[in-house]
Amino acid sequence: MRKFNGKSNLLISLLLILFTTLSGCVYSSTHIYLTWQNDPHTTITINTISPTREYPTEIRLKEADNLNSSETVIQLSPRDFSIVNPPRKITTYEITNLKPGQIYTFKFKTNKNKFTKEYKFKTIPNDGSPLRFVAGGDMGILPSAPKLLQQARKFNPLFVVIGGDIAYANGDPKNDWIWDIWFTNWCKLMVNDDGCLIPIIAGIGNHEVNDKDISSSPEERAPFYFNYFPQERRSYFVRQFNPFFALIVLDSNHIVPVSEQVEWLKTTLEANANYPYIICTYHVPLYPSHRPFDRTISLEERNLWLPLFDSYKVSACFENHDHTFKRTKILKGNQPSSEGTIYLGDGCFGVNPREIKNLDLGYLEKAESRRHFWFVEVDAEKLIAKAVDEEGHIFDEVNILPRLQPKKVTNQ
Ligand SMILES: [Fe+2]
Repeated sequence: MRKFNGKSNLLISLLLILFTTLSGCVYSSTHIYLTWQNDPHTTITINTISPTREYPTEIRLKEADNLNSSETVIQLSPRDFSIVNPPRKITTYEITNLKPGQIYTFKFKTNKNKFTKEYKFKTIPNDGSPLRFVAGGDMGILPSAPKLLQQARKFNPLFVVIGGDIAYANGDPKNDWIWDIWFTNWCKLMVNDDGCLIPIIAGIGNHEVNDKDISSSPEERAPFYFNYFPQERRSYFVRQFNPFFALIVLDSNHIVPVSEQVEWLKTTLEANANYPYIICTYHVPLYPSHRPFDRTISLEERNLWLPLFDSYKVSACFENHDHTFKRTKILKGNQPSSEGTIYLGDGCFGVNPREIKNLDLGYLEKAESRRHFWFVEVDAEKLIAKAVDEEGHIFDEVNILPRLQPKKVTNQ
């Protein structure tokens, strides 16, 4: 998507304010959403973005459906996000030592001594029950984005992974209105069947980053990404979902060079080698379906990351950036192989689809110019990924077997 200029920016801003007002949303209300900075079974990070006139100062937390649960009072430290105009108050609070698979309720007390309504979240279970999540990238704020979110929530995911190009604000403080629309969509739609807010795992894409010199700090180059999505203050990290899979989020050269993540990737793959599934996600595809195969970042990723994906038998990679639907053949060493990795993409979770190219290169099993997201269900024996379009049609499905053979149990 091209960058917005001043006039189109103003026009789109006015239209979207009208749209959100008509659809019952309050443009300037507080956005309340969840991320993780650590173990998703025992922690959650509650985030808020507010106009400065009223903002949360306290969280009141307790277990849902447990009359014996006492309320925990947590004092917040609101901070000013003053690069935008008008400035916002942001709060970030990580709650730890939670029970896995438990629903908690929380409400806020504000600086005006008012209490908000109750919200809920659920920690990730680790009891061997199947885990469900949604993956996609390149979302933005066109009308297709909320349409796809509406379909995504129907699958009742435990979390959503967004592989970069989230709101399309280009790290520009003047574009904070784009994030307002994005969060309005998210907060309105992403609540699961239990009434729980659905956490976000946010990867970074080129449209999170501004034009500042690379000597500037990551927070200066991608101010919304790092301030709005607290995830260890890094653009690459790993989350383990027990007992089934590790999810490795990488930065395809937006803040951290591809080469600088190689050692970390190797150590991380090694540390997580006992999981039945390893899933990676990043923005720029190794196997593009629209852009040329030999563009610099794809080439570098294939040179530096692919040998590790191959040797650790990474189950699947969610790729983005090309604004299409694609599923590759199972690939190892750039060749079809029954023991390789499947690459699913290519980032069309709300943006306008692009033309399919590269079919002649032989690595694409299936590709379409079609908006979609991937719904994934994982247990110990299978990982099923389904491509779902904005009408809710499942138009592709793949079953991926575990990386490791089940251990033999012998009687002594
Ligand atoms: Fe992109």
